[in-house]
Amino acid sequence: MRLAQFIFSLLPLSTWRDSIHSLDGLSSINDNRIFEPPIQPNKSIAIVGAGSAGLAILKVLLDLPIEVRSGWDIVLYEQRRNVGGLWLPDPHEPNPPHLPETPLYPLLRTNTPHPTMTYPGFTFPPNTSLFPFHQAVEQYHVDYAAHYNLTSHIQLSHTVHAAGWRGNSTHGKWDIEIHRYFESDISIKHVLHRSFDHLIVANGHNHYPRVPAWNGTEEWLANSPAEGPKRELLHSIFYRSPEHYRDRTVVIVGVGASGRDAALQVSPIARATYQSLRTNGTTTPGANVIAKPEISHFTKNAIFFVDGSSLDTVDAVISATGYNFLVPFLNRAPTWSPSSLPGLTTDPHTHANSTTSESLITNLRYIFPLYRHIFSLSKSYPPTALSFIGLPVLIANCPSDIAQAIFVAQSIANSSVLPSREDMVTDLVHQENRLLERGYDPYVVGHKMVGGDDDAMAYQNDLVAYLKKKGQLPNDGKDYVEQWRRDARKGSFLLKRAWDRVEAAGEESKWLTGVQSEDEWAALMKRLAESQEEWEKEHPNSLGTLPLAEGPNGLWLDGYGLYYTWPSLLVSS
Ligand SMILES: Cc1cc2nc3c(=O)[nH]c(=O)nc-3n(C[C@H](O)[C@H](O)[C@H](O)COP(=O)(O)OP(=O)(O)OC[C@H]3O[C@@H](n4cnc5c(N)ncnc54)[C@H](O)[C@@H]3O)c2cc1C
Ligand SMILES: *[C@@H]1O[C@H](CO)[C@@H](O)[C@H](O)[C@H]1NC(C)=O
Ligand SMILES: *[C@@H]1O[C@H](CO)[C@@H](O)[C@H](O)[C@H]1NC(C)=O
Ligand SMILES: *[C@@H]1O[C@H](CO)[C@@H](O)[C@H](O)[C@H]1NC(C)=O
Ligand SMILES: *[C@@H]1O[C@H](CO)[C@@H](O)[C@H](O)[C@H]1NC(C)=O
Ligand SMILES: *[C@@H]1O[C@H](CO)[C@@H](O)[C@H](O)[C@H]1NC(C)=O
Ligand SMILES: *[C@@H]1O[C@H](CO)[C@@H](O)[C@H](O)[C@H]1NC(C)=O
Ligand SMILES: *[C@@H]1O[C@H](CO)[C@@H](O)[C@H](O)[C@H]1NC(C)=O
Ligand SMILES: *[C@@H]1O[C@H](CO)[C@@H](O)[C@H](O)[C@H]1NC(C)=O
Repeated sequence: MRLAQFIFSLLPLSTWRDSIHSLDGLSSINDNRIFEPPIQPNKSIAIVGAGSAGLAILKVLLDLPIEVRSGWDIVLYEQRRNVGGLWLPDPHEPNPPHLPETPLYPLLRTNTPHPTMTYPGFTFPPNTSLFPFHQAVEQYHVDYAAHYNLTSHIQLSHTVHAAGWRGNSTHGKWDIEIHRYFESDISIKHVLHRSFDHLIVANGHNHYPRVPAWNGTEEWLANSPAEGPKRELLHSIFYRSPEHYRDRTVVIVGVGASGRDAALQVSPIARATYQSLRTNGTTTPGANVIAKPEISHFTKNAIFFVDGSSLDTVDAVISATGYNFLVPFLNRAPTWSPSSLPGLTTDPHTHANSTTSESLITNLRYIFPLYRHIFSLSKSYPPTALSFIGLPVLIANCPSDIAQAIFVAQSIANSSVLPSREDMVTDLVHQENRLLERGYDPYVVGHKMVGGDDDAMAYQNDLVAYLKKKGQLPNDGKDYVEQWRRDARKGSFLLKRAWDRVEAAGEESKWLTGVQSEDEWAALMKRLAESQEEWEKEHPNSLGTLPLAEGPNGLWLDGYGLYYTWPSLLVSS
């Protein structure tokens, strides 16, 4: 009886069909909860990941009217010890090449004003710095989960290890293998087997480093000078403290958010800092760096750049070169379900495209074919079987996650809301062709909102407007993205310069006092932007009024983050 009790404490809403295996270490567990037969659900949904995206879809599913979702079994699996995704620090020091749990580093602050990063209707607490350190963002996610009673649906320390589709193009189940770990003894692993109708992937996309395959790195690394520290070449996911680079000569590759942060933190204490850029443009305003073009190759003694120049004094390279889109658990079906098939293929060199592909593929930059970056159009299973939340890049993710989540929840509730698969493929190819017409290769830009904020806003508005048109949501005639968010996003860099000045003057309280509601935060940002504009007019020679540097088409396309559009500028106080 204890076994049964234990099993059902792990699987609070388990179905009778589910099974559980390999319960080594069972006797160490003592669980007293009473076993009650679960309600037979008529829809079962697994969410993977409790970062911003996973919490969004869980909350929105639970928001469905009870008569719609009654009997639904909704479980979110998160491999780590708490919610928050990449904002939850890794308790361990990085140990390359073993990947860390998160790219988060102690000095990380948001690069966007927090009111623009919020889930609609749920603000950061009063008196939060406009550009807070990472702890505030983690706490925000913890608070969100608690406030909306999400916790009972979240299974922490549960890794989704494998998922395979057992069925055909219209009917079937995801057979899933889950590994449960115990903090008290991570050598104890319980293996759970479950089946779900719908699988929602919210696993984040800042976890698998992309490092260019430069020639000669092994020889260069193996040939450290006799004196001094060993040479190293590390992706920015391993970056933690600038102290590590004190008195060293460093090349930072990339000028995205990670590259700029590293440059700002490392350059004041390094012997020399170079920043290698793919295109002509500004390096990192406020950082003491020397611009270099793209790296061509490494030799035993030096790093060569594409303009023929070389550096032979470098002892550390930080490759802030972005991340690959990978979903390892979708690449392998569980061995316990031999007839199930993986939902995704990884192929960096694929020639398939959204028109021809019968299955879902990631080329590391782009997962396709997906309808609106959300629903898999693989022909092996129905479109609502597999969805993704949080893929878009260059977007304020929490509001976008909620817009996507509403779309997914409504489509799971009523799959007739979606167009036919053929129409969805046509729509996708049309979207890709629009990118091509604007000079972008859709298979390279992937999920980036390359048209900047206007595209990012239109994307979210369209998702919600579609549901209103279909009568799934009341038509209030409003855009989903509020005007104040648009304004604040456009003014992000102005606000950053403004807030740096506020901090330099120690005037945070003056600005933050009495600011609590969403409207009050919006008004604060407006006041602050106006005041900064005024100040910059009066101080035309301040660093803050430097023209913003543009890459091709106004964008920096390499890298991971939102703030690839322009470098943020720091005001010297
Ligand atoms: C260094 C850095 C700074 C950033 N700063 C900003 C910023 O200032 N402003 C901004 O708007 N955006 C910023 N971003 C963008 C960032 O992507 C978002 O802020 C957002 O938090 C991402 O949420 P997510 O849920 O999509 O992914 P994640 O936060 O990565 O969460 C994914 C979760 O899924 C879990 N998971 C993955 N695989 C499995 C599995 N197989 N089984 C179980 N669980 C699994 C992971 O453990 C993780 O908890 C930053 C990104 C980085 C890397
Ligand atoms: C779900 O189950 C309930 C009763 O358990 C039933 O009334 C309802 O019609 C079912 N819905 C679907 C979509 O099967
Ligand atoms: C607000 O936060 C600042 C630090 O950013 C602190 O000095 C101040 O005391 C706080 N004010 C209130 C009212 O909590
Ligand atoms: C969360 O649950 C508590 C207790 O069941 C309830 O009082 C509260 O209203 C719920 N909160 C939300 C946002 O649903
Ligand atoms: C898919 O499987 C279901 C249930 O097993 C069956 O009713 C249906 O006919 C199958 N559809 C196709 C296209 O094979
Ligand atoms: C890489 O270097 C090796 C010699 O070390 C050379 O033979 C090879 O052609 C180089 N490849 C490229 C792509 O430059
Ligand atoms: C950068 O600018 C220089 C001089 O304007 C030009 O010669 C070079 O080709 C440019 N490089 C790139 C990558 O655009
Ligand atoms: C997709 O691939 C097919 C087959 O290779 C090709 O004929 C077609 O032109 C491709 N479509 C696009 C938009 O590239
Ligand atoms: C499901 O969606 C279709 C298409 O929009 C609609 O006609 C139908 O009324 C919806 N059904 C329910 C139960 O909402």
